[in-house]
Amino acid sequence: MKADLILYNIGTLVTSRELDKKDFDNGMENIEILKDAYLVVEDGKILQIGTGKVPESLKSEWTKLIDAEGKVVTPGIIDSHTHLVHYGSRENELPMKLKGVPYLEILRNGGGILSTVRATRKATRYELFDKAYEVLDRMLCFGVTTVEAKSGYGLDLENEIKQLEVNKKLDEKHPVDIISTFMGAHAIPEEYKGNSQGYMEELFKMLPIIKERKLAEFCDIFCEDEVFSIEESRKILNEAKKQGFMLKIHADEIVSLGGGELAGEVGAVSSEHLMAVSDEGIKSLKENGVIADILPATSFNLGKAYAPVRKMINEGVNVAVSTDYNPGSCPCENMQLVMQICSSQLRMTPAEIFKAVTLNGARAVKREDNIGSLEKGKKADFVIFDTDNLNYIFYNFGINHVKDVFKEGKQVVKNKHVCYK
Ligand code: NIG
Ligand code: FE
Repeated sequence: MKADLILYNIGTLVTSRELDKKDFDNGMENIEILKDAYLVVEDGKILQIGTGKVPESLKSEWTKLIDAEGKVVTPGIIDSHTHLVHYGSRENELPMKLKGVPYLEILRNGGGILSTVRATRKATRYELFDKAYEVLDRMLCFGVTTVEAKSGYGLDLENEIKQLEVNKKLDEKHPVDIISTFMGAHAIPEEYKGNSQGYMEELFKMLPIIKERKLAEFCDIFCEDEVFSIEESRKILNEAKKQGFMLKIHADEIVSLGGGELAGEVGAVSSEHLMAVSDEGIKSLKENGVIADILPATSFNLGKAYAPVRKMINEGVNVAVSTDYNPGSCPCENMQLVMQICSSQLRMTPAEIFKAVTLNGARAVKREDNIGSLEKGKKADFVIFDTDNLNYIFYNFGINHVKDVFKEGKQVVKNKHVCYK
């Protein structure tokens, strides 16, 4: 077998291949990190990983050889929780936020999510596409090669479909892979104010149509005080499961309602936020193999407590980390800043953070067989960082350390700029 591309002279290669837990302090540090390594690509997939000298037998006259100059190389980063497609922005809420008006009070008064719903309903498919496309370019420059994207700013069939069709078009047109989640249960729309039962009935009608049109793999819900109760969330998630959706939950973000416990009960793939998760919730995540997808930039932006990550890791929960990019609680598309917050505020180690944004990110979107680690047969999505050691990425915070990005073996970012166009 001859290679299309060989990246050699890699100083540190985080393959993110999961190793036996017994040799590590915890199950979040057990990823393979190689020194003096090379990576071989054929047909957009990883053909081989090795250390030392690259075997001559892999090279042909057609092989592209790239010198990694002793730098750090990792799998493409996975942002497994975003609200990518929406219209407008909400900086008008900043003065209220600074005065201490709570997030849920802004929502109660018709602002917050509902103001983005008004803007998104008015926007055309093209306007939504254009705005999100630019965001994806920025995410790609931060090393992100796969993004999960939720609907939830339409809150009626027509506009939910519009958002999900934009996801589909973005997946076709942009190098970043998009995984779609239906989140019609993101808020109670204004026309159903005081009538959550009526909107629940609408949601039950939307689910089979979204499924039939293959517009989303996952179904998510904002299980929160004043939004969807535990009982309502249970009903919607169980119905979604029956119809063949995989499940996610915005759980215990602001109030500790028992969303973590519910995630385990309904067999969700991931449970998101978890800033206010209880000990029972953590136990339920662990026992049911639910990924805890935490969103520390949301805590940072709202000035709220962080999810108890060290506790979750100690209890053996698999943690993923994402941006939560959205126009309200976290207008931030910078995964590297998120990773740096994980280091300085959550005391996560570089190995734990890279496992969270690669292998566990892939698990949170059920793509662990194709992406999330650099192993034979998986997609050749990888990132070259402009440093020779992992610590430096977290030490010099607030800047972008990503130099080059490759998506399925093709270079898409060169010297910090997109180069695929
Ligand atoms: O994950 N919590 C619900 N949804 C988003 C915020 C959406 C918004 O404010 O527009 C979140 O934080
Ligand atoms: Fe979210």
